[in-house]
Amino acid sequence: LNMPCDDLNHLELVSTIGFNGNVNRGLIIHPDREHMIYPLGSTVIIRNLTTNRQEFLTGHKNNVSCLTVSKSGKYLASGQVTHMGFKADIIVWDYEKRSLLYRLTLHKVKVEALAFSPNELYLVSLGGQDDGSVVVWNMKTAAAVCGSPAAVQSAGTTFTVNYANNSDDIFVTAGEGTLRVWELDLQNRKIRPLECNMGQLKRIVKCVEVDENDHYFYCGTTSGDILKMNMKTKLVANYGPAKGKFSRGIADIKILKTGDLLVGAGDGTVALVKGNSDKYGLVKPAMKVQGAVTSIALRGEGHQFFVGTNKSQIFRFNFTDSAMTPIVSAHYEPVADVAFPVGCSELFATCSGDDIRVWHTLTSRELLRITVPNMICHAIEFMQDGHSLISAWEDGKIRAFLPESGKLHYTIDNAHNSGVTAIATTEDCKKIISGGGEGQVRVWDISERTNIPRLKEAMKEHKSAITCIKVRPNGGECVTASDDGTCIIWDLCRFVRKQMVMSNTLFRCVCYHPMGIQIITSGTDRKVAYWETFDGSQIREVEGSKTGSINGMDISPDGTAVITGGDDKLIKLWDYNEGAVHWVGEGHSGNVTRVKMCPNRAYIVSVSQDGAILIWRYPQ
Ligand SMILES: *[C@@H]1O[C@H](CO)[C@@H](O)[C@H](O)[C@H]1NC(C)=O
Ligand SMILES: *[C@@H]1O[C@H](CO)[C@@H](O)[C@H](O)[C@H]1NC(C)=O
Ligand SMILES: *[C@@H]1O[C@H](CO)[C@@H](O)[C@H](O)[C@H]1NC(C)=O
Ligand SMILES: *[C@@H]1O[C@H](CO)[C@@H](O)[C@H](O)[C@H]1NC(C)=O
Ligand SMILES: *[C@@H]1O[C@H](CO)[C@@H](O)[C@H](O)[C@H]1NC(C)=O
Ligand SMILES: *[C@@H]1O[C@H](CO)[C@@H](O)[C@H](O)[C@H]1NC(C)=O
Repeated sequence: LNMPCDDLNHLELVSTIGFNGNVNRGLIIHPDREHMIYPLGSTVIIRNLTTNRQEFLTGHKNNVSCLTVSKSGKYLASGQVTHMGFKADIIVWDYEKRSLLYRLTLHKVKVEALAFSPNELYLVSLGGQDDGSVVVWNMKTAAAVCGSPAAVQSAGTTFTVNYANNSDDIFVTAGEGTLRVWELDLQNRKIRPLECNMGQLKRIVKCVEVDENDHYFYCGTTSGDILKMNMKTKLVANYGPAKGKFSRGIADIKILKTGDLLVGAGDGTVALVKGNSDKYGLVKPAMKVQGAVTSIALRGEGHQFFVGTNKSQIFRFNFTDSAMTPIVSAHYEPVADVAFPVGCSELFATCSGDDIRVWHTLTSRELLRITVPNMICHAIEFMQDGHSLISAWEDGKIRAFLPESGKLHYTIDNAHNSGVTAIATTEDCKKIISGGGEGQVRVWDISERTNIPRLKEAMKEHKSAITCIKVRPNGGECVTASDDGTCIIWDLCRFVRKQMVMSNTLFRCVCYHPMGIQIITSGTDRKVAYWETFDGSQIREVEGSKTGSINGMDISPDGTAVITGGDDKLIKLWDYNEGAVHWVGEGHSGNVTRVKMCPNRAYIVSVSQDGAILIWRYPQ
């Protein structure tokens, strides 16, 4: 285990369910018109629009913060964020080979925006707030040609950069109190800014698009209007529509062949705006999506475009019929739990924020969404007969849903008084066991007549929140893990404590070995510990992670393999008997919260705090 990851076998990432919709203009349609490109954590995903097959570009060590593609599609470039005091990488990718071409490291803390020159000679990069510089890179040599502060000292952050359509020597930067057209003087290795005159207008610009002939460029502002700027005179040609039309500001603009502008706004509005006249009016009634629009991407010059939102959704729009189809949907808040129905690998459920979603494993398609507005779901479990999906909520209620329709089956009110934090069901489908934030473990009997659970017993030995509950295979007892540093094995007939194990840790996860005679535990002390169930003695303890707690654990039905995931963002596949890691999965950018093997052992599913669901191939 103390070996670096490089010496271990790597789990193959098959698919992801996630999209970081907080990256402005982060959604791209490749010029080949067949692929969609978008960021998820530190990964860049290339997704075939026909087959939905995903490919992954990995190389960033932290969140991708910006993404761009060159005009012919030969190059992709992505920038990242990093910690204070460090430099943030730009990676230029060879699209055809799907490989890393250059790593360009100069900007501090964050790369804010990127743009390729029209003939792909240069890449211009903009550093974030802590960096404040603009740099031009030569794409033949990967050398920095020249750089400069992006704006005058008195201006705020520069948010965006875009190249002219025809000249490799002209680009535009814009942001808080700054709007500049730059000229590249290659001989003298200099870039020269020319300030635009915005007159009386005080605007913060979040996106810039240059027209076909480089005569004008359009700026989307946080005030919700568009400034049309004359490239030559650097003066405002016109602006509109009236303030307030796009509340929460304009995040992206795309220019259509007709000269009209496609506009995406922070209130979820997508609108077609007349671009060439002095009056800005909507060409068609605006459409609205959930969340804030953060990207608009045209598919070629054709009749389709795509919209990305900060609620991790991607929609496809058709001009012809104004139809909107969601094609990617993902969680946008920490994913707390993942569960497979017993013996069923085709689908699984996850919970995140106020959502429970059911996914098709093979296609990553969302099959069902259950929302309890403004409430947080902590844990989920399928009843073993598959007839209901039981969920644990922060308001102290247990809610059971019908997994096909999503209809509420029943609610147990006041199940716990500090929120329900863990849940499990018994094999005979006659009991639910719940754990609460206050430390109680409660057993609920499901009457055959009414199908509604009634409180059977409350067991009060834990001193703080229950984090995980597992029922012993073949019944009769269960084990609960708690933040109080103990795991307790309970007799489910007499409702008394059978055993207790203790450690100087907040226990986060526990599993029974299928034979039922051992449990393994883990938590914030980063140790994986094996215990005998009959006397609570510790058999073995191994280091499970070098950094950060272990939050999720699962064991194969034959008891030979264990998977763990935690704050080191890694998925580890262990041999149970050896207590040694043989496989590691690198791909999460957030702390891993839970991991599960699918019942037929084809895949491993892991979920993380950044909203991502990752699906790995189980090694044969
Ligand atoms: C993407 O899908 C198209 C259409 O099915 C296919 O022609 C193309 O080869 C696919 N590309 C990849 C990389 O799979
Ligand atoms: C400028 O834009 C037009 C239309 O988008 C395109 O046809 C043309 O190739 C572009 N010019 C260059 C140099 O890429
Ligand atoms: C999305 O953006 C809107 C507007 O900027 C903001 O109010 C909202 O909290 C954001 N939602 C998420 C999930 O980030
Ligand atoms: C637009 O929508 C129609 C009907 O949904 C569909 O048949 C057509 O293929 C779509 N157009 C494109 C370019 O996908
Ligand atoms: C992720 O784990 C690290 C290390 O344990 C911790 O410092 C950080 O707060 C965690 N992140 C979140 C969002 O909880
Ligand atoms: C990375 O992105 C996730 C999800 O958007 C966010 O929760 C996390 O704070 C980001 N990390 C950094 C270092 O910005």
